[in-house]
Amino acid sequence: MASNPHALRSLAEWLGRIADYTDAITGRERFPIKNPATNEILVAIPSLTAEDANAAITNSLAAAKEWRRTTAQARANILHKWAQLISEHHEALAALLTAEQGKPLVEARGEITYGTSFITWFAEEGKRAYGDIIPTNAPTRRLIVTKEPIGLVAAITPWNFPNAMITRKVAPALAAGCPILVKPAEDTPLSAIALEILAHEAGVPRDLFRVLPTNSPAEIGGVFTKHPDIRKLTFTGSTPVGKYLMQESAYTVKKVSMELGGNAPFIVFDDADLDAAVAGAILSKFRNAGQTCVCANRILVQSSIYSQFIDKFTEKVESLIVGNGIDEGVSVGPLINKGAIDKVQQLLNDSLSQGARSIVGGHPFDSSSLFFEPTVLCDVTPGMPIAQSEIFGPIAPIIRFETEEEAVALANDTPFGLAAYFWTQDLGRAWRVSEALEYGMIGVNEGTISSEAAPFGGMKESGIGREGSKYGLDEFLEIKYTSMGGLGA
Ligand code: SIN
Repeated sequence: MASNPHALRSLAEWLGRIADYTDAITGRERFPIKNPATNEILVAIPSLTAEDANAAITNSLAAAKEWRRTTAQARANILHKWAQLISEHHEALAALLTAEQGKPLVEARGEITYGTSFITWFAEEGKRAYGDIIPTNAPTRRLIVTKEPIGLVAAITPWNFPNAMITRKVAPALAAGCPILVKPAEDTPLSAIALEILAHEAGVPRDLFRVLPTNSPAEIGGVFTKHPDIRKLTFTGSTPVGKYLMQESAYTVKKVSMELGGNAPFIVFDDADLDAAVAGAILSKFRNAGQTCVCANRILVQSSIYSQFIDKFTEKVESLIVGNGIDEGVSVGPLINKGAIDKVQQLLNDSLSQGARSIVGGHPFDSSSLFFEPTVLCDVTPGMPIAQSEIFGPIAPIIRFETEEEAVALANDTPFGLAAYFWTQDLGRAWRVSEALEYGMIGVNEGTISSEAAPFGGMKESGIGREGSKYGLDEFLEIKYTSMGGLGA
């Protein structure tokens, strides 16, 4: 398959820029960042330590004093400039993202656009951090509510969206008037560094937004959770790690936002537009090779259309092209690392041994690569581990149900509550089921729901807080109430 020459050229240019930028950091061990599609080393970068994190905290606090005094408009101007620079480097940043993360170039381009939308959104939303004047409880007094920047923010970001999960946290923090330090995932720090370079070029003061790449995540994570001057911790990642970070943050009573794991049900009722539901299921299941928190995890299909759905869905899955995301036409890239392949294989083996049947796929491509065949698994029952855990891979388990009540009960029978999808053409059912699902985000006749304008986040063990939208700014603000007395009658 043909590689995209323009993408390869711009990738080489950005790898050079990142190498030059990180060469300035001396005295630290370097760790290699590998392309999961080829296993080649893209670049080696310094692994920062707890000492670096502590120094960055001191410097950020100093830079923050001036930033919190700037107007929302002045911050917006800088954020818009950052967005403009990202757009100018759009293709190069997409190629860099594909190289370190593996997703197909077309998805990487989509992620850069998606990531940039958070910057332009919050540039404007920062101007709307309104307070209130509350009707007074005494004639001599006025009750005033203002919103203030929360203070120094620490962010821990995942490898599955190395651009958008950073802008979704950094843009609202900066717009709210806060400094922010980011520890990117060890597998994918390059997109984060590129964003940092462009932010500084746009005029974001250097110490206000720093990326701290490291191969020792616990070391920097430990500073983030323990340091009393960090007032807010924002994390996207697994539920077990989120719980641990919440526990550790409790000692200094930090505000936390946690965007954690999911187990999204994708329900197809017998009155659905079947072709649209199949197309939605493909999009939702195989985006980023199944490695998103909001991916359809379990596909629940009503009994009367079960076989028909499987036939149509399988035909589409067979047409997916697996390969190096930089090559034209590829629709499913590699998984992120060997651990991910092993987990997916284990879940699959357990299901097969418990009676599930693989209709298509079912194997890694070969023992040395990180590619896994898109797989359709039928005769899955709700108790199987694959229906209970977040798969994070290109396997679609299909479960049969009989009634609406049963579908809702199965969908809610999980500690997770991030995203859920269902397909119906019955308006009454659309309302009933939406209201019955215990999930933070619901797609009705939609397979993809993410947008900078909408609140992203989960219920139950899928998290705390919301990102994006008008609600996302509040996560970085404190409410202050002032009672102003002695005003005369
Ligand atoms: C995630 O998987 O964590 C984010 C997905 C999205 O923003 O759509």
